[in-house]
Amino acid sequence: MNALLDLAAQQLRADLATAPGRVRQRLSDEGRAARCRTIAELRAAAKRSVPRPIFDYADGAAWDEVTARRNISAFEDVTLHPKALTDVSEIDLRTSVLGGEIALPIIAAPTGLTGLQHPEGEMAIARAAHAAGTITTLSTMASCTIEEVAAASDGRRWFQLYVMSDRGLVDSLLARAAEHGYEALMLTVDVQVAGVRERDVRNGFSVPPRISLKTLAQGVTHPRWSAGFVAHPRMVPANLGWEGSATATLASAVNRSFDPTVTWDDLADLRSRWKGPVIVKGVMRADDALRCVEHGADAIVVSNHGGRQLDGAAAAIEALPAIADAVSGRAEVYLDSGIRRGTDIVKALALGARAVLIGRALMYGLGAAGEAGARRAFSILEAELRVALALAGYPRAAEIGRDAVS
Ligand SMILES: Cc1cc2nc3c(=O)[nH]c(=O)nc-3n(C[C@H](O)[C@H](O)[C@H](O)COP(=O)(O)O)c2cc1C
Repeated sequence: MNALLDLAAQQLRADLATAPGRVRQRLSDEGRAARCRTIAELRAAAKRSVPRPIFDYADGAAWDEVTARRNISAFEDVTLHPKALTDVSEIDLRTSVLGGEIALPIIAAPTGLTGLQHPEGEMAIARAAHAAGTITTLSTMASCTIEEVAAASDGRRWFQLYVMSDRGLVDSLLARAAEHGYEALMLTVDVQVAGVRERDVRNGFSVPPRISLKTLAQGVTHPRWSAGFVAHPRMVPANLGWEGSATATLASAVNRSFDPTVTWDDLADLRSRWKGPVIVKGVMRADDALRCVEHGADAIVVSNHGGRQLDGAAAAIEALPAIADAVSGRAEVYLDSGIRRGTDIVKALALGARAVLIGRALMYGLGAAGEAGARRAFSILEAELRVALALAGYPRAAEIGRDAVS
């Protein structure tokens, strides 16, 4: 009898220990997303929901992660100067980018291997961006194909290009993107070689992922993520023909495939071949921004890749004012790297950005609750931006200027 009681007590203890996990699992994605009130809470939820190496891949940055932290802390160093007694009963977040209106000045940044967070990957991000009334940018390194993402949503979409050594592959990517309605080409210029992300090195992060006892254990402790992964494994970039290739670290795969000889001549060449607008992403200096304009770029993204490339680089928000001044309206200027709050967006707009791009905020949302989580990332930032603009005394996002900050 005692033995039976002991057994029952053991079972009860085990049930109680796992109950929060089981209750969490029963919550719908919508429910899980709705419980997160900030991007920081989406991050915490993603950290619980996906295996550690997958979370670290999205959250991590280069070397000591100084620039990644600075991207965030530099926003704290920008001070807002609210304007009194303006009518803020209607807040207008609309702006135009590359000739078309978007409902809010937030665009989905290109992110590679997004499908590791959730099997819907870039398709979920595209649908969330469309629902928010804005644009999605598909990475060269995306987990979903150019065609899948085009079919997933009717929203505006841009294609981000890394120039690969295999120029035939680049040509075919451009042709597929043009054929499937990607209206702008975004050339990323800050991955001459792979940045060293030490969390990935420590975790043995690879493409395709190496299945070890440790990864199996991670899978068991993250059953919802594992169910998605097993049903729809998205293990390698989908557009590059890497399926079936041998396991390699992401850095070595990048260094093997990307072309480190890319120069301004390649920008000129792409400009002449791509019929639509060209955006250059990863510009951090005013002289480079001017050269982009001279080479016919329609837009520039002031970005340090979220601190994932050159650690020690300035925060993107620190680089923005000088670049906006130099470009002086001859190209559109956007900013990414470190956007976590609506006030960050107000500051970026005030310092000369027409819109911001968000990378990790969407990755966290996706990891936490799939497409519902990505939608939540947009809605959190939108709601914060509305309140921040009202309190700053600028009812129209497109009209906030340098006088609002110091
Ligand atoms: C997981 C992950 C993958 C990324 N992959 C790409 C990519 O394939 N191409 C690219 O141009 N930028 C890539 N980036 C950089 C983002 O486009 C963007 O510059 C950065 O995330 C902005 O900083 P934030 O994450 O603080 O918003 C990636 C970023 C993350 C977090």
